[in-house]
Amino acid sequence: MDKQIAIIALDDEPNILSAFQRLFFNESFQIFTTTDYKQALEVLDKENIKIVLSDQRMPDIDGVDFLKMVKERKPDVVRMLITGHTDIKAAEDAINVGQVYSFINKPWNTDELKATISRALKHYDLVVENRKLFEATIAKNEDLEILNRKLKNMYEVQKEFTSTVSHELRTPLASIKSTVDLVLSKTAGELNEDQVKFLSKAKNNVDRLGRLINDILDLTKLESGKTKLNIEFNDLQPLIAEVVDIQKILAQEKGLFLDHQLPEKLVKIPFDADKMHQVFNNLIGNAIKFTKEGGITVFCGDYTDSNYIKICIKDTGPGISPDDQDKLFHKFQQLGESTSQVGGTGLGLAICKEIIERHGGKIWVESKVGQGSTFCFILPVTERRGAYGKEE
Ligand SMILES: Nc1ncnc2c1ncn2[C@@H]1O[C@H](COP(=O)(O)OP(=O)(O)OP(=O)(O)O)[C@@H](O)[C@H]1O
Ligand SMILES: [Mg+2]
Repeated sequence: MDKQIAIIALDDEPNILSAFQRLFFNESFQIFTTTDYKQALEVLDKENIKIVLSDQRMPDIDGVDFLKMVKERKPDVVRMLITGHTDIKAAEDAINVGQVYSFINKPWNTDELKATISRALKHYDLVVENRKLFEATIAKNEDLEILNRKLKNMYEVQKEFTSTVSHELRTPLASIKSTVDLVLSKTAGELNEDQVKFLSKAKNNVDRLGRLINDILDLTKLESGKTKLNIEFNDLQPLIAEVVDIQKILAQEKGLFLDHQLPEKLVKIPFDADKMHQVFNNLIGNAIKFTKEGGITVFCGDYTDSNYIKICIKDTGPGISPDDQDKLFHKFQQLGESTSQVGGTGLGLAICKEIIERHGGKIWVESKVGQGSTFCFILPVTERRGAYGKEE
């Protein structure tokens, strides 16, 4: 089988060229030798050349200029200049501007030359491999960018859809609710016991649907950054005390205690009071909803970083397994059968997470199955300039 040409050698001295032929006679590749640079370029265009060796001083072209032409045609090919002592300056310049990989001094030592050529062949393979990897990475990146753009578009469409549908549902729902309320108030005539029972059931479901729509709208607005937080520096303690007072009635109805163990005053921090109301209502509401015995305590936890305050809501409920703890803060996540018995839509914690994170804080749960749960969050004590969003 014919050996492939991998090296071209250009020199005006035929005895140098035949020395090259002898040197590489036993190799697995062929060396093409010529005294004519145009012929060398023709072979370069046709063959899969890895190295080009060129003499510096020749009658019709000098080596550096010839290698520059090689570089322009095939930039990956390793270019080497054969020089005498007097040409060293030209060779150095050529290396510095990147036209030449290395140079071979005349007269050369055969072993050294073979080692240099073998290094140059490896260098060529590496350069080609690198280029392939680089091109593959760029292609992958482009694919990823296209995919990313598609996903973003889909996400935008989905958000827009959710928000529009929810808005559109609100109006007919309000009309159903007022009609049911009107009939229930007996303004339109007396009702028998069954009619009151059925209408009350309808009213409960309408209310539930209303809450769900509001939650979805809330969450979509928070996620898209459309909700502007109304930030003021205040003490969280009275807000917590107020939510505790309201929810205490519910807790007592279930035979549960609900206490807070907070200092008289907490450090003043920046927060949106309505949004923090929502957070405490859901966390305390959840604790009451899922606890059968014992009760709930709200307290101010220790936190290593004094730039934050930490608040915890601890219950004596069923506890949450480690697997479930990760899912809880995602939308529509409700765990186990307990939930189907107590109602809710599974958006509460996702909303809490958005609200806390928009304040620059973090929320998490610490729990063991059978040993209750403690939901904790931290909030920064200083304002995050420009971080609270703009309303459209
Ligand atoms: N204190 C808790 N103890 C045990 N499980 C809890 C507790 N709080 C939340 N969970 C679990 O996490 C799920 C998600 O809570 P989340 O507040 O998001 O939704 P929800 O209370 O079911 O409905 P929503 O709050 O939207 O009315 C709950 O359904 C419940 O399975
Ligand atoms: Mg909830």
